Amino acid sequence: MTMTDPTTAAHASVAAPRVAFPPGFAWGAATAAYQIEGAAAEDGRTPSIWDAFAKTPGKVLNGDTGDVAVDHYHRFREDVRLMADLGLTSYRFSLSWPRIQPTGRGPAVERGLDFYRALVDTLLEHGISPVATLYHWDLPQDLEEAGGWPVRETAYRFAEYAALAGAALGDRIPVWTTLNEPWCSAFLGYGSGVHAPGRTNPADALKAAHHLNLGHGLAVGALREVLPASAKIAVSLNLHLVRPLTDAPEDREAARRIEAVGNRVWTGPMFKGGYDEDLKADTAHIVDWDELVRPGDEAEIGRPIDLLGLNYYNPTVVSAPNGAVVETAEAARNDGHGDSEFSCWPGSEDVVFHLANDDVTAMGWPIDASGLSDSLVGMHNDFGLPLLVTENGAAFEDVVGPDGEVDDPERVRYVELHLQAVADAIAAGADVRGYYLWSFLDNFEWAYGYSKRFGIVHVDYDTQKRTPKSSARWYAEVIRRGGLA
Ligand code: FCB
Repeated sequence: MTMTDPTTAAHASVAAPRVAFPPGFAWGAATAAYQIEGAAAEDGRTPSIWDAFAKTPGKVLNGDTGDVAVDHYHRFREDVRLMADLGLTSYRFSLSWPRIQPTGRGPAVERGLDFYRALVDTLLEHGISPVATLYHWDLPQDLEEAGGWPVRETAYRFAEYAALAGAALGDRIPVWTTLNEPWCSAFLGYGSGVHAPGRTNPADALKAAHHLNLGHGLAVGALREVLPASAKIAVSLNLHLVRPLTDAPEDREAARRIEAVGNRVWTGPMFKGGYDEDLKADTAHIVDWDELVRPGDEAEIGRPIDLLGLNYYNPTVVSAPNGAVVETAEAARNDGHGDSEFSCWPGSEDVVFHLANDDVTAMGWPIDASGLSDSLVGMHNDFGLPLLVTENGAAFEDVVGPDGEVDDPERVRYVELHLQAVADAIAAGADVRGYYLWSFLDNFEWAYGYSKRFGIVHVDYDTQKRTPKSSARWYAEVIRRGGLA
């Protein structure tokens, strides 16, 4: 029997790409609930820690909040049509915990689930494969008031929510990720305090890290019980690609410390059987690990998963503490995505951060795509799992032209360099299954509010008008071609 491959037929007229990607490679874009949905008080949703944080004066630039955001809750059909027009084959979004289980306890709210059922059905009608993240930072505020992530109970609450979401939506969502960037939740949320809930206590930050890990493991177990056997489970980590400033032993020691508390704090228990001794030694004066980690926890966290997601933006260059070095404002921002007098590196507060180069985005983040290929190859070698780039992209000062168009060649350049890096990693043996550009739409960029635009689709925040930028049209061509020209 001859089978016609509809993909090949439709693409017959397109020239072969210079840099091709494997068949079935997912061409995606990503968003997160609080950053785009709005409808903050509709259909039973209650405040999350980000609602509370954004409403605390001085926490978010210009007092911006996600109350309305880009109104995706009401405009998702238009947004999905736009994704289909661009040819996206997959879409990564997050489920809002306080929309599904408002207080973090008790039964699911059907109206909340209905929104995601409708969103997912619309995606599937357009041939776009959904990837759902359970936790992109919007802890129900009630759970924060009961202690938040530094409290062990929150991990069990998370697993219960995962089971509710999985049972309701598992028939139509093939790929699930548990946590998005738990490093930010723990260390920016409870360490430097630049993210919600804005606490600044190093012990709480480390406790939050363990309970996020535990929540991940418990959620994997809970999901396996309710999802079809074909479903794949992942986690999205922002593993730092740490480079010592020089080869001096002191700088290499600084890199080791940042790798421990930035990366291995997650990957140790998730993939290597437990927390590394050096991490525990670096932080022993802050927490009692023997009390924090109960027997069986590391096995729970280490439940096998199917895919590993990497969120990559820039490399991290560090050197040893040195009284003579004055940290620049830019370098300080680079260490933790924001200004704070409190550190997001418990136990390694003195490590000095440097910009990898001066070629920076509007966030001040250096552009260096070699970090992406190095990360992917390293993850492939270390963990042996199929990989997804679950986020990569850049903010620039986009300008709407007199013709209403947004020309963003810098973003095209950034994405092209990073797609090339993904191709390089695949050529070096890494099993990378997809790429999710951050972000599909301009949106609420956390502590920066609406001041930073990451979208390939521009949003006019007064009218909510969507305008694909030239990067969106360029990405559509890459997808049609199946690679880079
Ligand atoms: C990541 C977040 C995402 C977005 C990008 C720019 O850390 O996961 O929500 O804010 O940064």
